[in-house]
This record gives sequence, structure tokens and C-alpha cells, in this order.
Amino acid sequence: METIRLPRVMMDTAWKERLHGKGIGLVPTMGALHEGHLSLIRAARAENDMVVASIFVNPMQFAPGEDLEKYPRDMAADMEKLKAADVDILFAPEAASMYPKDFSTSVSVRGISGRLCGAFRPGHFDGVATVVLKLFNIVQPARAYFGLKDYQQTLVIRKMAKDLDLSLEIVLCPTQREADGLAMSSRNAYLSGSERAAAPVLYRALREGAAAIRDGERKTAPVREKIHSVLRSEPLVNGIQYASAYDPESLEEPEKIKGNSVLLAAAIRIGACRLIDNLILNDLK
Ligand code: PAF
Repeated sequence: METIRLPRVMMDTAWKERLHGKGIGLVPTMGALHEGHLSLIRAARAENDMVVASIFVNPMQFAPGEDLEKYPRDMAADMEKLKAADVDILFAPEAASMYPKDFSTSVSVRGISGRLCGAFRPGHFDGVATVVLKLFNIVQPARAYFGLKDYQQTLVIRKMAKDLDLSLEIVLCPTQREADGLAMSSRNAYLSGSERAAAPVLYRALREGAAAIRDGERKTAPVREKIHSVLRSEPLVNGIQYASAYDPESLEEPEKIKGNSVLLAAAIRIGACRLIDNLILNDLK
């Protein structure tokens, strides 16, 4: 596996590979790799001539006071995992080469970026859209892979790709879960033993909301109440930012669930850790 640090070198390398007819699969990450990331890499490996994984803890998507400094980092362990997963190139730029001093551009996908997580993390999705567009321009992938655990992020990236006529395929891959249902996330490392034991309440709450819908409930209020009551039953949950049923495209919370699909999504706090999760129900009658 080759490691490239400079955007210009990555760009030249990608151009050469493309001239030789190679299709590149890109897996953008912020490192602290887990099975969720590795499942994206496996999907990229199966569908592309070359796989590039990026590791970049993007300062632009963290608001002041968030966890940029303490975000888990373990480059040595990550490199071992990427080598074992047969990644061709690790692109791991420094912040200064991605955002030189005179950097002054930001990509904003209006509307959906301000809802759900965006309402609690102002500017977050502008930071995500900006860095992802930069990564697309630098790596020039035919396909890029994202996990559905960050459902709103996938929506923002798909909308940006559509609005800006980007010529690549955005591939969305299922959320990977621990045996007890907790969605895999680098931030799970922040949980203490008792918090980790409590954390599966998030997935349980969403599943109970889903069960109510499957049983025929179409009003959002009782579904929201069901999800909140399961979350409130866990004493270590010390904040519910949002938790309800949403339109999977607009992310608005409807009075009644219409159409044949719905998104159940929530963001909660357990201790100092913010956890998000979602479920998408399709084929509703
Ligand atoms: O999902 C992530 O890890 C990040 O938001 C991403 C897509 C790598 C952009 O920094």
C-alpha cells in the first residue's frame, strides 16, 4: 500500500491511473477504523480496479467546542487494517495542505443540511460537503462509498453530486452493528463500560418505533412518543436531541407518515458521548 500525503501528488497519481483506464473506488474516512469502514472498503474492492482510502480528521466539520482535538486517532493501527484489506493507496493529507491560509470556499447544500443533526451542529454539513467535494476532485473516483449510519450525510452528498453534476457514483452501504445492535462508530470509544452497556437503547428505541409503524400506526406523534419513552427508560441517557419519524428525502417530520418509506432517526447523549442512529422502513403498505 502506498501512502500519499500531498493533494497534488494524489491528484497526479489518480490522473495517471485514469489515463491507463483504471476506475478508482474512494472510501473517505476520518480514521479510527472499525468494521463499518472495512465493509465499505470490501465493497469498493469488489467493484473497482483501484481502492483509495482517505484518512483526514476534517477540522471544517467540527464546530468550536466539539471533539476535534480528542477525536480518536490511531494511524499505525489504521494502516495495518488498510493493508490487510488490500487498499492500494492511503491518502492522508495534513490540514494545512487541504486548507491553506487563504482558503475561503464553502459548499452548502441548503435545506436538508439544517435539519436533524444540522440543527444541533450548525455548519457541520457545509464542512462535510466541502471536504468531500475536495476529495472527489483530488482522487477522481468512479465510485465513492459511504455508510448509511450517517444517513443525513449521505443525503447531503447525493444532493451535492446531483446539483453540481459530479460524474461519479455514490454507493451507500448498510450500517454495521455490534452483536447487541449498537451501530459501529469511531465515537463509541468515548463510552465508559456502563455507558457502553446502556448504548443499545438507541437502536432498541428505533426498532420499537418501527414495530409501531409495521403494526399500522401512521400518526407520527405516537411513534415519536414510543421512541422517546424507550429512551427515557434508560437512566444514562442524558439528552435527546431529536428522535422521531421523518420523510427520508426532505428530513421533515410529517404529521402523518405517507408513501411507502419512512426514516426513523435519533441523536442522543449518553455521558459525554453523542450517538446517532437510524432505520429506514421501505415497502410500507
Ligand atoms: O463520515 C465521515 O467519516 C466524514 O464525515 C467524511 C465523509 C470522511 C468527511 O470528512
